[in-house]
Amino acid sequence: MRIAVPRETAPRERRVALVPESCKKLIQAGYEISLEAGAGERAGFGDPAYRELGVEVVSDPRALLEQAGFLLKVTPPSSAPDRNEIGWLRPGTCYLGSLMPLRNLDAVRALAAAGVTAFSTDAIPRTTRAQAMDTLSSMANISGYKGVLLAAAELNRYFPMLTTAAGMVTPARVFVIGAAVAGLQAIATARRLGANVLATDVRPEVKEQIESVGAKYVGIELRDVASAGGGYAKELSPEDQARQRQLLVEQCAQVDVVITTALIGGVFAPRLITADMVRSMKPGAVIVDLAADGGGNCELSRPGETTTVGAVTILAPLNLAATMPNHASLLFSRNLTAFLQAFTRDKTFQLDFNDDIQAGAVITHGGEVKHARTREALEKAGT
Ligand code: NAI
Repeated sequence: MRIAVPRETAPRERRVALVPESCKKLIQAGYEISLEAGAGERAGFGDPAYRELGVEVVSDPRALLEQAGFLLKVTPPSSAPDRNEIGWLRPGTCYLGSLMPLRNLDAVRALAAAGVTAFSTDAIPRTTRAQAMDTLSSMANISGYKGVLLAAAELNRYFPMLTTAAGMVTPARVFVIGAAVAGLQAIATARRLGANVLATDVRPEVKEQIESVGAKYVGIELRDVASAGGGYAKELSPEDQARQRQLLVEQCAQVDVVITTALIGGVFAPRLITADMVRSMKPGAVIVDLAADGGGNCELSRPGETTTVGAVTILAPLNLAATMPNHASLLFSRNLTAFLQAFTRDKTFQLDFNDDIQAGAVITHGGEVKHARTREALEKAGT
């Protein structure tokens, strides 16, 4: 079975779906691999490193995809007229990558129409067996780490407490909102830089995890359960939203840095930080809205931009993982490889929708949309 790895063409994208280390493993497992020329260059993996392993380097993306049995990409395949990746695939080809189906309904429609079996790494169940395949975690870790570095670079103060000849400076106070993978990594990184860190989440079970990485938990007693199952949060009731707003008003006014990572169902960002909260913050304070890809947690965030409101700076970076393309690609590639290896028999990928991982991750197959939440979203969108 031939795996095709095209160059990523989305704006700001610098990752590659397979790094040489993974190609070696997949070739040993019996796959043939073709790579679009230059696909790994921006991540620090040049064509010679692939060629050395027996990967075929192809300059024509159309020829690459027409031959593919399995397409591996970081982002959804494109259906743009000048690069119609989906149109070039043969019916029955498999695709695996970060499809984010609920944010990319057009791509889902095109994949179904093309008869592609599309698996989205974002829909892989969050189970112990699937942990090694979990690109969401790999990328969220990078985002939490890098988000804190951006905040530290932007802040007009030190993060750590320092004793200098000119006297002592107090540590920065950092408030992390949302404490799953990105939030916990943000806490750990801010702690390593020496900040005092507070954190909140709406899933009460997270309190212990927040404390285990060195932050102080601040939260509200929720009247309604805020867990939607699978570790995901659901939207708060209006009453709980009002109580959380009060907590956020109090904390935002006291801290130097706010890092937000809150998502509902792993997809959409609830608006938590209002314009008034931003205006009440200390002069020089910094907000890093790590939920910008899902629309942003701060009312004044402009996804992809840096905004200044009075003396407060709001950063709303998109696709932060792509700003560390070498390690991001390495981890992403290991996740995809773990998925393929788990279902490889007789040197080929075996479809098995009785398996909970494949059943959870499959978005389109045989011309149909198989993923229930995506089907509902398409019906809602009127298609
Ligand atoms: P996510 O990106 O979907 O959400 C981020 C965080 O925002 C969540 O902790 C959520 O509770 C929080 N949040 C939502 N609304 C909020 C609000 N109004 N105020 C404050 N916080 C709010 O989370 P991620 O990183 O995708 O993880 C989702 C779940 O999956 C977690 O329970 C995590 O522990 C679990 N997980 C399990 C894995 C496994 O077993 N293989 C691997 C990775 C994560």
